Amino acid sequence: MKTDWRARLKAYHLQQGVYAGTDSEEYQQQHSAAMEKLRSNRGNTLKPEDFERHYDAIAEDYAKYLLDPEYVESISSAIKRIAEITEGQKIVRVHEAGCGAGLDVCFLAVHFPEIEFTASDISEGMLEIARRRADSLGIRNTRFLKVAHENLTPELLGGQVDLCFAIGALFYHSEEEFMTHMWGLTSVINPQGKLVLCTPGGEYLNALATVMWIFNCTFDGEIKDSDIVSPLGIGTFTKTSDSDAKTVAMRLALQSQERW
Ligand SMILES: C[S@@+](CC[C@H](N)C(=O)[O-])C[C@H]1O[C@@H](n2cnc3c(N)ncnc32)[C@H](O)[C@@H]1O
Repeated sequence: MKTDWRARLKAYHLQQGVYAGTDSEEYQQQHSAAMEKLRSNRGNTLKPEDFERHYDAIAEDYAKYLLDPEYVESISSAIKRIAEITEGQKIVRVHEAGCGAGLDVCFLAVHFPEIEFTASDISEGMLEIARRRADSLGIRNTRFLKVAHENLTPELLGGQVDLCFAIGALFYHSEEEFMTHMWGLTSVINPQGKLVLCTPGGEYLNALATVMWIFNCTFDGEIKDSDIVSPLGIGTFTKTSDSDAKTVAMRLALQSQERW
């Protein structure tokens, strides 16, 4: 029987308090204030080196008020898809890049206790919350590391992984920055592995160029534009030293943005 991941996600989000208090006036006020803080600190001027400071500053607000029902709902399709991929295949090791407050990696770690998870983020403030969440859930199969996407290496993770995912965590201003992050992420994946990317965008993310689709990448095929079906669709990304691949990856990113 197929697992009802939607139902499990919903139950988990309720348990984690993600939906708690949404209707209360106090919550709404705090949510608006947190959004304002997020916005005031963002924009096109935010450089990679600013992300650490930015997310450290908003970490507590992020976990309490910005992991709101709308955001969580928008990424739920991606988590559901990751759970399906993980369930259906022989996956032993998984990495989440830009895990933030750890909501997603902890969900997967609870449901796949036999899998070894690692999760990284550039912000220690976010990682602290993620570690607290993992402890409170009694999770033993997840290790958190403070490392930027661009500095990821298999050695840091104790070897390559079968699946790497990043949700709302890939920000770039140029093709060069995009590829730097991409090479970091893909370097930790084994040759048959998969990369799942999802950035749901939305009001407070669109100041930066963001990737808005899922790559389900097996690294052994050609990139096909037709594989991209929606911002949360499926695409492929071929890991190759061919400089053309770089251009295609960026082209797909831009197309996806236009569609959004
Ligand atoms: C919008 S939050 C998303 C967190 C989580 N994936 C979620 O969906 O709730 C973006 C996260 O990406 C992290 N981040 C941004 N740039 C990064 C980079 N270059 N390397 C590692 N983490 C990064 C931030 O610190 C932040 O925790």
